Amino acid sequence: VNGIDRIYANDLSPAAYRQIIQNLALNGVDPDRVKLSTKEANVFFLERQGEKFDYIDIDPFGTPVPFLFNAFHAIKPRGGLIGVTATDTAVLHGAHAKACPLKYGAQPLHVPFMKEFGARILVQWIQATAASQGFSIDVKAVLSQAHFIKVFVIVIASRTRASQDLQNVGWVQFCGQCWNTIITRGRFPARLEGECPACGGTLELGGPAWLGHLYDAQFLQRMMDACTGIDSFPQQVETLKILQLMKQDLEGPLLGIHIPKLCDKLNLSGPAFPAIRQELENRGFCYFRSHFDPLIVKTDAAVPVMEEILRHLNEK
Ligand SMILES: C[S@@+](CC[C@H](N)C(=O)[O-])C[C@H]1O[C@@H](n2cnc3c(N)ncnc32)[C@H](O)[C@@H]1O
Repeated sequence: VNGIDRIYANDLSPAAYRQIIQNLALNGVDPDRVKLSTKEANVFFLERQGEKFDYIDIDPFGTPVPFLFNAFHAIKPRGGLIGVTATDTAVLHGAHAKACPLKYGAQPLHVPFMKEFGARILVQWIQATAASQGFSIDVKAVLSQAHFIKVFVIVIASRTRASQDLQNVGWVQFCGQCWNTIITRGRFPARLEGECPACGGTLELGGPAWLGHLYDAQFLQRMMDACTGIDSFPQQVETLKILQLMKQDLEGPLLGIHIPKLCDKLNLSGPAFPAIRQELENRGFCYFRSHFDPLIVKTDAAVPVMEEILRHLNEK
């Protein structure tokens, strides 16, 4: 990549170290520009004195939590970019729910919008770790794929901003009976609902989770321009499709409605997505798709409206 002077590649495993050397040769990277080491990642971060890193990519097996705190020591405190990968999606999506409060200090939700919610729990923990050291985060992008979630945040040293970030953290309550979803902002909200205000059903509580934006419009546009500007960009069509869906995640409401699961609940067959879009837009509601899940629709229509639309389309 142009504009990069030096790269530090660190991996505890000697086999991985040898693999990195082979990969540098395969990619024609000048080895003099790459400093290799086999340190424990936390030791590697803590040894960083003087000039700090512009970009840190944390890509362990499973959870990145053990490495996050010290990564903030090694990153440039004003404008450094951190990339964080988590592969423990079963924990963040609530399939192994017990581990989530231990690792991420949060309760996951194994509900139809669990993928976006899991990503928001991860961002919340990055924010909490940053805030504990006087840093605020500016979330640039989140990529959620089958077996991993990757988050990119810019770091800004500011306790004032770190305090403000707490307003972007909050709680989600989901009614398994009527699918009503209640979002309450603030890490320490004055009150939460006791039961579903719509149907009196039991509410599942998830959080704390990041409720702020997960994308930066300009950052997304720059990635789209970079992708379209290079003819030989690998998997160009697929990459652009994901970036377009991320744009919809940014512009649409939080979370969303899982259409096939709602149809199953109502004993209906699933209408085509363009027909749902048409019905929503005819009634003045918005329609967005989500990169987190191709079967989710994000709309400002409440669940009963969506149910009515699905029934109507089934009758056609
Ligand atoms: C998912 S792989 C990373 C793959 C690499 N980023 C890539 O894209 O090819 C995780 C790597 O983390 C290394 N690792 C695990 N724990 C570590 C630790 N505490 N410190 C440094 N490296 C560690 C493992 O040896 C393994 O090679």
